[in-house]
Amino acid sequence: METIKGFHDVLPPQSGRRERFTRQACAVLETYGFSRIDLPLLEKGELFVRSVGATTDIVEKEMYSFADRDKEHTLLALRPEGTASVVRAFVDAGGARRLPEARLYYTGPMFRRERPQKGRLRQFHQIGAEAFGRDDPSADAEIICLVDDVCRAVGLTGVRIRINSLGDAACRPGYRARLAEWAGGRVDDLCGDCRARLQRNPLRILDCKNEKCVAITAEAPMMVDHLCEPCRVHYQRVLSLLSTTGPVVEQAPRLVRGLDYYCRTAFEITVDHPQLGAQNAIGGGGRYDGLVATLGGTDTAGIGFALGIERMELAGAGTADDDDRPEIVIIPISAEAEDAALGLARKLRIAGAVVLVGSAERKLKAQMKRADRVGAQYAVILGPDELATGRPALRDMIHKVDSDGCFDLESDAVAILERIRKVGTH
Ligand code: HAM
Repeated sequence: METIKGFHDVLPPQSGRRERFTRQACAVLETYGFSRIDLPLLEKGELFVRSVGATTDIVEKEMYSFADRDKEHTLLALRPEGTASVVRAFVDAGGARRLPEARLYYTGPMFRRERPQKGRLRQFHQIGAEAFGRDDPSADAEIICLVDDVCRAVGLTGVRIRINSLGDAACRPGYRARLAEWAGGRVDDLCGDCRARLQRNPLRILDCKNEKCVAITAEAPMMVDHLCEPCRVHYQRVLSLLSTTGPVVEQAPRLVRGLDYYCRTAFEITVDHPQLGAQNAIGGGGRYDGLVATLGGTDTAGIGFALGIERMELAGAGTADDDDRPEIVIIPISAEAEDAALGLARKLRIAGAVVLVGSAERKLKAQMKRADRVGAQYAVILGPDELATGRPALRDMIHKVDSDGCFDLESDAVAILERIRKVGTH
């Protein structure tokens, strides 16, 4: 049986590589004072309607939602993103009173029923981070530095960060009306999707990929030119902080993002890579100062981002890393040697080596072939002679060098491992 369309298995060596670069990313997050939060995959659908927005594509078209089996048939949803859940958890845990300046990160699967293509799945994975209780521009600049540091740590190159300000409750409604009026005068030239957007979510017109719409809206009024004074000052300060301390960012006046909770700073991280094609956004984020209050908490500022793991992989994340091949294969060539082989393997694993053990039921030649096939660096051979002397033979599989009686079975694990690795350097 096959997996559902848009859902994928992750097999070795990709799974190992993913695990390692995710760990590297988490290590960077921890240096910025973020702690891990683990969240449910299933939430009340209402959570995303109230936060991501009822008229967004995510909620309207892409969310996996269904009625629960309870009497009330509560509407449930597989989470399409992580921010809403983190904010819900933050509010549930007592908000800023209990968790002042909470900094939380998460990794895990998200679900969106989009049209699958390269870099676009229905189950995909994110690494995300959310910081609460800071509404000052330096928090925005720091989050953008963090995103850049995470990308570097996992080996991504050619990362571009595009930034915009989406205004706030004071200035965005006026701008939205102005944009809607402007677009209303050109409605016949817009694509069908944009005509619908004009009624429901006019800002998304700026995001349309249709060439004709892109050309028409080049002349449209932009949010950055209609910010209220506090939003303008905030945005200018973010840009100035980044220009002195942070990564290079590009101002992107058309950047609107597909989630309704944003206010002020919004950003997107792209990598132009042939593997990514059109899906070149590896991450996105921004400020969501009203969201905690919307979800029932005491008004608290928030800002965060999420990176898409599959898209990071397509852009080359983790490829510089080692793969999961075993370091040592132990080859017992008699039944008696099997006991010694299992004992030695345990010892070496405790010392940190990746070790496989062969079966004495197979001939030496077949076992050597297997060691080669699994990509082992060393083969330790244990036969009657080696057992008698207590000194196994070793083959460096990479350089094809043999060394008899290489180490003493009775030595401690660290000393044995050192001997094995030393042989390998000759
Ligand atoms: P988002 O832009 O919807 O933001 O998603 C972030 C990233 O997840 C995207 O840039 C992309 O790399 C990846 N992604 C999204 N959809 C798919 C898909 N169908 N297949 C593969 N990858 C995908 C958010 O989710 C916000 N919660 C980010 C945030 C955190 N804002 C503030 N805090």
